[in-house]
Amino acid sequence: MTKRYVFGSPIETDAILCKPEAEQWENGRLSYQENALTCEMEEEEIVYGLGQAVRGINKRGWIYESNCTDDPQHTEDKHSLYGAHNFLILDGESRLGIFVDTPSRVVFDIGYTDRRTLRIAPRTPDFELYLISGESPDDIVRQFRKLVGRSYIPPLWAFGYGQSRWGYSSAEEIRQVVKEYRENHIPMDSVYLDIDYMERYKDFTVNQETFPDFAAFVEEMKKENIHLVPIIDGGVKKEDGYDVYEEGKEKGYFCKDEQGEDFVLGVWPGRCCLPDMLNEEAGRWFGRKYKILLDQGIDGFWNDMNEPAIFYSEKGLREVFEKIDEYRTQNLDIKTFFAFKDLVAGISNNPKDYAAFYHNYKGRKYCHETVHNLFGYYMTRSAAEAFEELAPDKRILLFSRASYIGMHRYGGIWQGDNNSWWSHLLLNIRMMPSLNMCGFLYTGADIGGFGADTTEDLLIRWLSFGVFTPLMRNHAAQGTRRQEVCRFAGRDLMGEVIRVRYMLMPYLYSEFMKAALGDGMMFRPLGFVYGDDAVARRVEDQLLLGDSIMIAPVHEQNAAGRTVYLPEPMKLLRFRGGQVWEEAVCPKGHAYVEMPLGDVCVFLRENRILPLSKGGEHMGEVDFSNLRLYHFGAHVQPYVYYTDDGVSRECDLSHTKTLTV
Ligand code: GLC
Repeated sequence: MTKRYVFGSPIETDAILCKPEAEQWENGRLSYQENALTCEMEEEEIVYGLGQAVRGINKRGWIYESNCTDDPQHTEDKHSLYGAHNFLILDGESRLGIFVDTPSRVVFDIGYTDRRTLRIAPRTPDFELYLISGESPDDIVRQFRKLVGRSYIPPLWAFGYGQSRWGYSSAEEIRQVVKEYRENHIPMDSVYLDIDYMERYKDFTVNQETFPDFAAFVEEMKKENIHLVPIIDGGVKKEDGYDVYEEGKEKGYFCKDEQGEDFVLGVWPGRCCLPDMLNEEAGRWFGRKYKILLDQGIDGFWNDMNEPAIFYSEKGLREVFEKIDEYRTQNLDIKTFFAFKDLVAGISNNPKDYAAFYHNYKGRKYCHETVHNLFGYYMTRSAAEAFEELAPDKRILLFSRASYIGMHRYGGIWQGDNNSWWSHLLLNIRMMPSLNMCGFLYTGADIGGFGADTTEDLLIRWLSFGVFTPLMRNHAAQGTRRQEVCRFAGRDLMGEVIRVRYMLMPYLYSEFMKAALGDGMMFRPLGFVYGDDAVARRVEDQLLLGDSIMIAPVHEQNAAGRTVYLPEPMKLLRFRGGQVWEEAVCPKGHAYVEMPLGDVCVFLRENRILPLSKGGEHMGEVDFSNLRLYHFGAHVQPYVYYTDDGVSRECDLSHTKTLTV
């Protein structure tokens, strides 16, 4: 059951599609005072949720801030990442789902100030609160997801493995990457185009020198069964004669500063203006621009820098230079030297800049900081709504960096600029269920790690987890070690791992679609299914994937295996050398399982079915009808199997059939 409460005069976010009647607030389990909601947490209570955030599956013991932030250092001491996902579940003696709907910052102090107290403090006293009670965390998630609407569904090819790198600078370089994959028979479906495909980082342009005849190149790649996926940035280069800029300026579509002038900020191309994505007309205009690339055969995009990231503002930069002039003549001592350093470090994503520009949203003027968390959401929504008109017959791949709840209807997200660190593989694992709770099903992290140099073993282990995530993309930053699997001596082993993805595809696609169409989760913490098992409830590095299997990825360097907790007897299926090895049933309890590099292990639940295909080198080769069904137990339940053409927009549960043994 959901109860809705309105505090003050909230700004509509469009997160919730069907709102129950608002009720009169009375302090109950939660009390409201001094613009904060507080409640006591039981010793054993677990707090799930908050979508994209640092730390564990259980969010207790830290202070989180919902404030879309472009920060590439996802360390434990951070409070915000790129998304703002204000939904959590308290799972103790009873269960309570909480969603705080407001477009600006919210602080969630989950036992940080006082270990037993949850304190939720929105930035302003204007917000909507949804309290959802239910029998189980699953039940609460389903109710919440019914309120926020169906999750985005990408085309089938977007479940294939993708290669990306910031720095691919020509069609020739991409041809080379594709050639290496194909020659080594390593499956792949897509290559991502980072900012270097553009002409001087201008949205909706293509560098004619390095990508001559782009449409022909897109076609050539399609023949290789490769989809090219270009990036689109949130800022539009301020350059006279650049049609997107000229049009936006003339029509008044850019965000304005206090004086009513176009707000100028620095991003990749240097000085830029921000389309007012929150404004319906400006959003529609921006969304229609994707047509330029759709017309050249493109059928997938990633939206970036849409927190929005601000390297500097024109005004901020001026102030910094003035201050530097002052410092120039001084003896920089302990105080002034650090003040000088902080001054330069503070140029980017400065709160002062977020308070210095305005939107025209739903007919009213809002200072950006009051609606900050909606920018990436509305950028992605604008694109998705344009695709409905421009490509009504097919699904277009779309995912974003910044997001708010509600955006999950329009696109997926990737987990942003992680590092090639083992701890970030673990973070990737832990974030999957919290993101799923909020409706973000099409998601994954930069496999191998974005920043810093990867290692061969990290990449193998990360791929061995990445085979399960709907978005499976290897992406790395410019200047880091090359990360394409063909660059490593262990390429064959990596190829075998990637092949597992294509074998698993019938199951993964089916589970994804059932989660999307049934408002469920594809990845669940063990506590969601084995809620009465005190040990299972504390497991932070194993997940249930769909209804049939559990996964327990290795996330430590030099480990030859790991301890796995079995909440019930399960059968170990080991993918090795392109084959599936059925091992003995592991009894309930802890077991040490050997997992050498390159092995992908799944734990099959009793009386469940895991359908597998033979695989393929791209999605078009995967045979979704000739399946091998793995199972054990005396009362095997029928498997509800979803398949469709993977392209058309009409998806519903009529595409399911039942598999039995
Ligand atoms: C941002 C993105 C990253 C991309 C880079 C260059 O940092 O998060 O994925 O490679 O910009 O476009």
